[in-house]
Amino acid sequence: MSKKRVLTGVTTTGTPHLGNFVGAIRPAIAASNQEDTQSFFFLADYHGLIKCKDPEQIHASTLAVAATWLACGLDYEKTYFYRQSDIPEIQELNWILTCTCAKGLMNRAHAYKAAVAENIDKNEDPDHAVEMGLYCYPILMAADILMFNADEVPVGKDQVQHLEMACDIAGRFNYRYKELFVMPQAVVGEEAVLLGLDGRKMSKSYGNTIPLFEPEKKLQKSINKIITNLKEPGEPKDTEDSTLFEIYKAFADENETAQMAQAYADGIAWGEAKKIVFQKINSILSPMREKYMELTANPAQIEEILQFGAEKTRKIASERLQKIRNAVGIRKLK
Ligand code: ADP
Ligand code: TRP
Repeated sequence: MSKKRVLTGVTTTGTPHLGNFVGAIRPAIAASNQEDTQSFFFLADYHGLIKCKDPEQIHASTLAVAATWLACGLDYEKTYFYRQSDIPEIQELNWILTCTCAKGLMNRAHAYKAAVAENIDKNEDPDHAVEMGLYCYPILMAADILMFNADEVPVGKDQVQHLEMACDIAGRFNYRYKELFVMPQAVVGEEAVLLGLDGRKMSKSYGNTIPLFEPEKKLQKSINKIITNLKEPGEPKDTEDSTLFEIYKAFADENETAQMAQAYADGIAWGEAKKIVFQKINSILSPMREKYMELTANPAQIEEILQFGAEKTRKIASERLQKIRNAVGIRKLK
């Protein structure tokens, strides 16, 4: 029986935060431990260039993201763990898919539409400062996925549209040339969207993140900053709109979550609740943090792991690309 292929990528801009962990890294690593699964994990450094124009940040973040996944328990021997830029076949497929993708599809992409809407709001030209990287970003993402015929892609809700677009692009290719691509499916975890310090989605773009492996003291400080309301100790508190509760829930088991809900109803003081949240998150992150520190102190070891992954991954990619090139008519003369 052929194994199910699960693929996920993390853009190399900035340092991974709790949201990335809950929404992407944790579910992907959990899936990789299942026997019927073949997992692909990659550092999306070419995606990083879309938003981040600081070479040092791209570079530092590549190290941080790689170390994070390894520290979170990724088994690089059992899985395909690679850096996107080490697989040139992905860029070649990116171009072939660019020639297969309708422009109108890209016009509908959320990230592009948001940039245009912001320009219009400011009375600017609609495409002011919009680069082709942003515009074509869903095509590169489709190439990442279709290169390996991934069956499932664990993502946050914000990425579902990109998976639909990947299917659209794959369908068009299959119809025009040859049935070479399977339709990938987005797998959205239930607690996929983690909220940030200010109660909005935790995201680098909002500056409201809690870095995954910040030192213990800093983690405690960050948790103390999570937005609450003015309810006094002793006053019952609502779990419904509580960012703190939502964050706790993402780390605690069912039993602990129920206990916390009870504590809210009983009027636990915010300071007390934050202490419990800190202890819970820290107890889970501590051993991983230690590993992370060890790894980041030795980048050459990570580079070796990435080269090992690239070699393994390129074997699949080059074989696939051969078939794809062949299908579009790019092949040796004889
Ligand atoms: P950011 O929003 O901080 O820029 P990325 O876009 O780099 O994060 O996201 C990397 C991965 O982590 C994606 O799969 C994304 O869906 C997931 N992710 C990001 N933020 C969150 C969040 N707050 N909750 C759940 N998943 C998230
Ligand atoms: N665009 C994704 C994000 O911002 C990262 C990413 C790039 C990705 N290529 C991918 C995720 C392929 C899954 C599959 O989160």
